Amino acid sequence: MQKNTDPKLSELILFFGEHGKTIKSGFLKSQDKAGTRNIYGEEQMALDKWADDVLINGLRKTRLVRYIATEEQPGIIEIDNPKNQFGVVIDPLDGSSLIDVNLAVGTIIGIYPGNVLNKGENMIAALYILYGPLTTLTLSTGNGVCDFVMDEKGEFNLTAQDIKIPDAKIYAPGALRRDYLPAHAKFIADLENDGYKLRFSGSFVADMHQILHKGGVFTYPGFKGKEKGKLRLLFEANPIGKIISDAGGAISNGKTNILAIQPRAIDDITPIYAGGKKEIRLIEKYMS
Ligand code: AHG
Ligand code: MN
Ligand code: MN
Repeated sequence: MQKNTDPKLSELILFFGEHGKTIKSGFLKSQDKAGTRNIYGEEQMALDKWADDVLINGLRKTRLVRYIATEEQPGIIEIDNPKNQFGVVIDPLDGSSLIDVNLAVGTIIGIYPGNVLNKGENMIAALYILYGPLTTLTLSTGNGVCDFVMDEKGEFNLTAQDIKIPDAKIYAPGALRRDYLPAHAKFIADLENDGYKLRFSGSFVADMHQILHKGGVFTYPGFKGKEKGKLRLLFEANPIGKIISDAGGAISNGKTNILAIQPRAIDDITPIYAGGKKEIRLIEKYMS
């Protein structure tokens, strides 16, 4: 509100804060597998599906949005007679393979003025809720990246604003080293020779929260047999990409700014390099 956010957009952001609180309360109920697979062929946890239901059912009731796309759904859900035309992209639980070992996981959200099959640069807001020792909400509406911490009453209190990614030597390298492609292998070797410290948890949102605050670079590259990588353009790359870019960093597929890519389908995947501008410039140099 202090940043003159459109009241309807504020209402939608508050919706996600409220429902983040509900999702947080679900971890005590189950840490089990669902016994099903999502459209990427990945095993779903019971909580992946439950968090997806919580958000979709809640959004249907509020009718704040017209289009909903989530990592757990095969197609775009369209709501009849919405109060307005927002589109949202959601990874209901990111890092869900870590639920059963009690490591930090999160909910990632991107908000568009309309259709979600749209370039990341057209997002009007992006946020994530991170369920760690604290429950935090990190938000950008394009007017500075802010952090909020949930208190004992379940309310999110502002703890940092205009966050800028610092310069630091941390790297979070996804994929198997034996499958690295040449330019990526050279990039990682350079970081290691330069003294970068390894920090990879298996939760993109948690790893990126660390990079946002402590600096460095996250990579989930294209690799032998999966040249397009693993992570999802709509649900993972774009919302986190907006936040890291609004904080003075950058996100690239190794060749170009991911936020400028027109998605072809909701399940598009992309290689990801996200973090400080210096590191992103280096990989783009090696891949060009
Ligand atoms: P999700 O839990 O939404 O399926 O995403 C998992 C992603 C991402 O969070 C993480 O960086 C990556 O998968 C980890 O993959 P590996 O297990 O291959 O390292
Ligand atoms: Mn994910
Ligand atoms: Mn997920």
